[in-house]
Amino acid sequence: MNVLVVGNGGREHALAWKIAQSPRVERVYVAPGNAGTAAEAVNVAISPMDFAGLIEFARKNDVRLTVVGPEAPLAAGIVDAFQDAKLRVFGPSKAAARLEGSKVFCKDLLRNADVPTADYHVFKDPIEAMAFVNERYCEEDEVARVVVKADGLAAGKGVIVCQKRDEVLDAIDRIAFHREFGDAGNQVVLEERLDGLEASVLAITDGRTILTLPAAQDHKPAYDLDQGPNTGGMGAYSPTPIVDEKMMHWIEEHVLVPTVHAMKRSRNPFRGVLYAGLMLTRQGPKVLEYNVRFGDPECQPILMRMKGDLFEVLEATVDGRLEDLEGLEWDPRPAVCVVMASEGYPGDYQKGHPIRGLEQAAELPDVKVFHAGTSEVDGQVVTAGGRVLGVTALGNSVAEAKLQAYTAVKCIRWAGAWCRKDIADKAIG
Ligand code: AMP
Ligand code: GLY
Repeated sequence: MNVLVVGNGGREHALAWKIAQSPRVERVYVAPGNAGTAAEAVNVAISPMDFAGLIEFARKNDVRLTVVGPEAPLAAGIVDAFQDAKLRVFGPSKAAARLEGSKVFCKDLLRNADVPTADYHVFKDPIEAMAFVNERYCEEDEVARVVVKADGLAAGKGVIVCQKRDEVLDAIDRIAFHREFGDAGNQVVLEERLDGLEASVLAITDGRTILTLPAAQDHKPAYDLDQGPNTGGMGAYSPTPIVDEKMMHWIEEHVLVPTVHAMKRSRNPFRGVLYAGLMLTRQGPKVLEYNVRFGDPECQPILMRMKGDLFEVLEATVDGRLEDLEGLEWDPRPAVCVVMASEGYPGDYQKGHPIRGLEQAAELPDVKVFHAGTSEVDGQVVTAGGRVLGVTALGNSVAEAKLQAYTAVKCIRWAGAWCRKDIADKAIG
């Protein structure tokens, strides 16, 4: 059977690589894909937002399952469009994708379902938001433990963590008046700032049964020691010792299950990947946000450890029979993924630099180099994005996996290539 993966990042390369291992899958297409997916699957030059084009392709090429990687097409209703066309597709409906697409929808649902999350207030009128802030904090440099969030999708950038009152006012100004994130700033959420370690817990659900995946930890800030601007994620590892078995059960019981039930009750049944971004506070884990898809780069180390047939799991989810599947098996060894980026990322960067050393890296044991922003020009792999590669390795311990990932990183070079040097150090101590 043929499968279509929608997207072109490191997550989609990992999905295509894993799905292609299923004995039931004949051919994997990736739309539009990258140089890495071209080597393992068949790239198709169709945009993830061109639903009609994707549907036509799926029909003509006997695609029996489409797997959607990124949030933008999910929020825009790609799943509804495929379902209307009577095609099987993995991911949440447009209504259910609001869990990621609207912070207000997400916070209201969490509150109604009694899922632990930061206290919050929603404002349609930014003047009212500013008045609220000024009433609470009198001095301009008064400590204000507030996070300002644009309601809509903003590629991970619409969240501003503030320390002082004036930073809060400035953040409201940027989101609601200067429209830095466009229509995403139609509503503003002011949230209590939480302290703690962050972890990502992803679960696959068909709306009734929940299959929780081992916890992972992302590294969002650009530079070592969590300094610098936020990025899409500079590396990840899994499993993470900061979420032990007991905490995982607690998260399932108090976070995942009530969320899935609340979505069902509100007539937005959730099918797909429910990704909880959590802050592990002194009072216990609290939800920072939900994503409605695999995390990138969390997907890479998680799938590197998965032993079962991912295609079977995705298919069972779409068909609503996850309950019938046996639990997944995992490689006991941890996996570490180091993102190699273009000079200038997360700001402006150049494209088109030839990448050398991919073959040497691929020869190392227990290493897989997932491509993200790459393309092939005249038989040469070149850079084509900010996050370029996700160099992923397994090891007998987190420290060994880290060492092996960085050994592979050292094989690879292009003009301006860089990465964080401290991925997974939080687990090594
Ligand atoms: P989000 O897109 O909501 O996950 O926010 C991006 C990042 O902002 C998170 O990974 C956290 O580091 C930070 N963040 C979001 N909400 C809060 C909060 N209430 N308290 C502290 N940090 C937060
Ligand atoms: N790694 C964070 C995300 O996928 O949103």
